[in-house]
Amino acid sequence: MAKKLYIKTYGCQMNVYDSARMADVLAPLGYAPAAAAEEADMVILNTCHIREKAAEKVFSELGRLRPLKARKAKAGGRLILAVAGCVAQAEGAEILARAPYVDIVLGPQTYHRLGEMVAQATRAGGQVLDTAFPAEAKFDFLPEAAAPQGVSAFLSVQEGCDKFCTFCVVPYTRGAELSRPAAAVLAEARRLVAQGTREITLLGQNVNAYRGAAGDGAWGLGRLIRALAGIAGLKRIRYTTSHPLDVDDELVAAHRDVPQLMPFLHLPVQSGSARVLKAMNRRHDADDYRRVIDRLRAARPDIAFSSDFIVGFPGESDDDFARTLALARAVGYAQAFSFKYSARPGTPAALMPDQVPERVKAARLAELQALLAEQQRAFNAAAIGRTLEVLFEKRGRHPGQLVGRSPYLQAVHAPAPDRLIGALAGVRLTAALANSLAGALAGQAAETPA
Ligand code: SAH
Ligand code: SF4
Ligand code: F3S
Repeated sequence: MAKKLYIKTYGCQMNVYDSARMADVLAPLGYAPAAAAEEADMVILNTCHIREKAAEKVFSELGRLRPLKARKAKAGGRLILAVAGCVAQAEGAEILARAPYVDIVLGPQTYHRLGEMVAQATRAGGQVLDTAFPAEAKFDFLPEAAAPQGVSAFLSVQEGCDKFCTFCVVPYTRGAELSRPAAAVLAEARRLVAQGTREITLLGQNVNAYRGAAGDGAWGLGRLIRALAGIAGLKRIRYTTSHPLDVDDELVAAHRDVPQLMPFLHLPVQSGSARVLKAMNRRHDADDYRRVIDRLRAARPDIAFSSDFIVGFPGESDDDFARTLALARAVGYAQAFSFKYSARPGTPAALMPDQVPERVKAARLAELQALLAEQQRAFNAAAIGRTLEVLFEKRGRHPGQLVGRSPYLQAVHAPAPDRLIGALAGVRLTAALANSLAGALAGQAAETPA
């Protein structure tokens, strides 16, 4: 009998990818996607632990699901409730204790065992906890992607982090760095393209630290990108998230030589102060970061950048913060994310003296966000009147309209026929709205060979 699965995903793109993989694991057990938790036989919360606010959401969502589960039981049914992802990894036992109605808690490295966990929970009742870092690599046991992933798809090539920035939980929740073999990545990419994907975003917590086993030794990310560019029908390649320290010459050269590699890079810097960056254990200063940006710009003059910033790291002074503003001004971002420092249990920075008061963090965040928003506005405004290539992904909100993305990841909508979904087309941009650009097809649109 067909059962229904609902997955709610929090956090980063890797969680989006993982949620799709969990659906693939459960498909052979008869689970088809549900549109809402209300109609599901199993609900998975795929969680994020990066900041306190993200982690808190889990318990409030569990509180909402509890009556749903009770109602289902009253009607003689059963709702299996699972918590996956980084909160599960960090607080598994606490989840089971605080929310005893949760059936399964599983960490990011055990998704390939989810089928057995469901069987066990169904058979025996009781709670299943699996937050191990198993010796076998999850990727070797995950089934091939079942459902088409759309025009633009994620592909995890690397997972985990060995960097241990002092503010960050990721090395603890995702474990040590692991790269998938190049052949496995290429095979998955070919399958995606055969199912209609035209853009692949390579994912990793430290994606440019990729060292994938290959016949002729280990490949870095630059080499992998060149090989992916050989797949006919794959029009665009992106990758995220990178660490400035791991931008090597091969990757810079790929930006120069590979036309499918998009001229847009998310390169988090966190702070512009050498002192703060040292306390963060980032192992680069603002000048190192500027040099990386310069190398990339020399290789690909039209490249645009995005970043992550943290304000209010312990000990951050007004002068340190001024250096962050100065760095942002010097680089000039197309867009960026910025956060108030959030003390995370188990990380070294949480125990550092001189925690910055909340009101100082809030003021600094507002000032930085005003600057970054202005930069984003200017970047989008500069596109008006230009023709950019857009990869159309789906229908827009208005009839006859499609939406897609520019090379710089800007959302673009334009009147266009459905047959252009999955195609690249030149769009002359006419207006910048709050979160997107509007335009019109410029001349003859390029067609996809099917
Ligand atoms: N692997 C990536 C991203 C990690 S998490 C990297 O190396 O940059 C995404 C972003 O969340 C980080 O870049 C950082 O800006 C932010 N972040 C991580 N831990 C945080 C914390 N404790 N408080 C506030 N922001 C945090
Ligand atoms: Fe976290 Fe730093 Fe690793 Fe990024 S590089 S995941 S910020 S520890
Ligand atoms: Fe969050 Fe884990 Fe991603 S903590 S940002 S879901 S790696």
